[in-house]
Amino acid sequence: MDSPNAIATPHPILRSDYRPPAWLVPAVHLEVELDPAATRVRARLSVEPQGGTPGAPLRLDGAPGMVPERIAVDGRPLGAEEWRIEGEQLVIPLDQGAHIVDTEVVIAPEGNTQLMGLYASGGLLCTQCEAEGFRRITFFPDRPDVLSRYTVRMVADRARYPVLLANGDQTGTGDMTDGRHWAEWHDPFPKPCYLFAMVAGDLKANRDRFVTASGRSVELGIWVREADLPRTAHAMAALKASMAWDERVYGREYDLSIFNIVAVADFNFGAMENKGLNIFNSRYILADPETATDADYDAVAGVVAHEYFHNWSGNRVTCRDWFQLSLKEGFTVFRDQEFSADQGSRAVKRIEDVRVLRAAQFPEDAGPLAHPIRPDSYLEISNFYTATIYNKGAEVIRMLHTMLGAEGFRRGSDRYFDENDGTAATCEDFLRAMETANGVDLGGFRRWYGQAGTPRVRALLSHDAASGTARLSLAQIVPPTPGQPDKLPMPIPLRLALFGAESGRTLVPERVHILSEAEDSILFPAIGERPVLSINRGFSAPVVIESDRSAEDLAFLSAHDDDPFARFEAMQQLMVDTLVALIEGRPADEAAVIEAVRTTLADEALDAAFVGEAVLLPTEAFLGDQLAQVDPVAIRRAREGLRQRLGRTLEAQWRAAYAATAANGFALTPVAKGRRRLRTVALGYIAASGAADAAALALAQFEAADNMTDRYGALGVLGSMVAPERERALEGFYERYRADALVLDKWFTVQALSTREDTAEQVARLARHPDFTLANPNRLRALVGAFAANQHAFHAADGSGYRFVADMILAADPINAQTAARLVPPLGRWRRFEPMRAALMRAELERIVATPGLSRDVFEQASKSLG
Ligand code: ARG
Ligand code: ZN
Repeated sequence: MDSPNAIATPHPILRSDYRPPAWLVPAVHLEVELDPAATRVRARLSVEPQGGTPGAPLRLDGAPGMVPERIAVDGRPLGAEEWRIEGEQLVIPLDQGAHIVDTEVVIAPEGNTQLMGLYASGGLLCTQCEAEGFRRITFFPDRPDVLSRYTVRMVADRARYPVLLANGDQTGTGDMTDGRHWAEWHDPFPKPCYLFAMVAGDLKANRDRFVTASGRSVELGIWVREADLPRTAHAMAALKASMAWDERVYGREYDLSIFNIVAVADFNFGAMENKGLNIFNSRYILADPETATDADYDAVAGVVAHEYFHNWSGNRVTCRDWFQLSLKEGFTVFRDQEFSADQGSRAVKRIEDVRVLRAAQFPEDAGPLAHPIRPDSYLEISNFYTATIYNKGAEVIRMLHTMLGAEGFRRGSDRYFDENDGTAATCEDFLRAMETANGVDLGGFRRWYGQAGTPRVRALLSHDAASGTARLSLAQIVPPTPGQPDKLPMPIPLRLALFGAESGRTLVPERVHILSEAEDSILFPAIGERPVLSINRGFSAPVVIESDRSAEDLAFLSAHDDDPFARFEAMQQLMVDTLVALIEGRPADEAAVIEAVRTTLADEALDAAFVGEAVLLPTEAFLGDQLAQVDPVAIRRAREGLRQRLGRTLEAQWRAAYAATAANGFALTPVAKGRRRLRTVALGYIAASGAADAAALALAQFEAADNMTDRYGALGVLGSMVAPERERALEGFYERYRADALVLDKWFTVQALSTREDTAEQVARLARHPDFTLANPNRLRALVGAFAANQHAFHAADGSGYRFVADMILAADPINAQTAARLVPPLGRWRRFEPMRAALMRAELERIVATPGLSRDVFEQASKSLG
């Protein structure tokens, strides 16, 4: 390769290269004089040799341009010849034995736009250290298998930064004579430096208390700007519910006397589980009916729970190296999914989680960035906080839960926590704990950790009426992925059942069948009538099922299956089969879809939330994933056509559903949420029908709404219409919420997702809007991330959508490389598209890779996407 980056091409970090650290750091004292322009950090490290090459020097990670102003060993200042900088590491030769190493650096948080390390957000100073941010604060062995006890003394101007927070317990505070004050914090739990955190600012706390199962009292604080205090109640309730849930379901108690959460406006991702001091993107803390949708409320509770659960799955037991990331993330996502399922509707939660998996992880697993949940190499670890590590990782844990049962899984998790408490563990340690606690052999199951790609399972059911038997033939294929041409079969737990096509009776009640080999079959005796197969119920395995079930059978399951997920799934499959046939110009059973939707709408036993999910057509992106080659125009035409006909044919039913779910006082119960969901889905179909009053109806909902779910739902429908009501609503929304960054994000997103023909021009204009900024990750994702998900506008035939996104990536890269890199994958899907678009997408990736000075983050994503 001869791009300008060829010389600077970073070399990959390999899992097989892992070596234990040569030096440990049992204790760290930090003294931080906070100042936005020049923060002085004095670090005192107690170091001792361990296991590594005897005589190896102490190597401390640093950041580009970071130089120590002072270094001392055992109190003696070092001369310039007694240390050196190698790359970004500070190298200090030391005698074997314990030492005290002092370093001093000055850093500038206000210039830190990457939002890693110590940075300024609004008037705050805060930190983000995972994965490798601590090295931007001070020289340190920045790897998760070095665990230390931290004592932190923070000093800052009292007026600007009245609140000073860090991990653990506050051990002292005081005033200085120069207008500054100080606070000292001590965290008794040894932790890797990625869990270090510090916040200084003018914050107010929503305070509460939780008493643990063993009777210890924990002070809870959610710290925000004063004006945001009224928006913290939901997060606080979720925190307390999470603490109780982890005691009940996993037997895990909180272990410090303080648990603080801080919300910040500029944050690279969702939130961070720093020990005793979680730091959150404010979008996952702040919620009230005026500004947050029901989905936002659920996301707040889910992320609060996720970060809290990390206190055990992540902090008490951490990761040995970053290749083990899914050890904490997959497990913790599984834990937060189950928490949310227990809090609300389990069926709807499962549908939502599978939607996310299919929208984000399946395409990743089928593309150039595919990697196993335990990867083998990376250039930049930030690029591996992926849907595969998180969401597929959670599915892998869920399969263990399914195979071992709730009690067996709990025995295993107890053993895992007990054996590994206070250490940095591996995925292998987790599997071994599950095995020994249950006396099972998970040998083949380990392949789920090493093999990438979404398995495809062919499931064919045949019935022999004469002998009264049925046979289910199963076959699995794990497709090739980059670097992994050949795969071995994996154990796939499939929940399945058989129903009688005529009687509707359950012929074979649900059982779990583990498909371990490439092929397998099951014989069912005493099957007197034609059976219908219900398989992968509850989405028991993260696979694609290929069956030959007819439209009639799918419609039957969508009406009669007793597993709500399987009902949803049957309807989806029916819709997919019909739409794919329409796209490919084959005969399609559209009437079956319309009748199945009619039946679902009429079924009074179903709750509104489920109906709202079940009647939605699969997304354009998901339909594209089913095709050998994606033609976004053909997909749009087929899908919009079916949507119109569904809207028109069932117009009376949509209007009835709309009327039946009219807003009646805001409540956050699952029932009320379900009604709001179905209401906006119905409004969307009324609009799709072309009804003359649709825009007026949507505007009326928009204006009468007493909550953001209804208001934003109406705006979403209006956003794709060509009507004066649309402009009126967008202007009204802007005027009402222009001062509220989180809501303004929605205003950008709704326009970026519009199906209108002029969306590309509108988005280009929005990128020049005074409220748009590349510096805030939420805003960048709200506009550019959403646009890249808009299948029609992003894939404009002239390549203008690709060019726009590439321009934004290149503009954002020097400011925030992590966030820029996360915009690359949509371009990386080029191989899936028809040749014209594929060439245009490739050309943009090539332009990106050829740009001098590219970050390692964007370079890795773009070059691998071309590869
Ligand atoms: N551990 C955090 C969480 O899942 C996310 C950290 C993401 N870090 C990153 N470099 N992308 O809760
Ligand atoms: Zn996490």
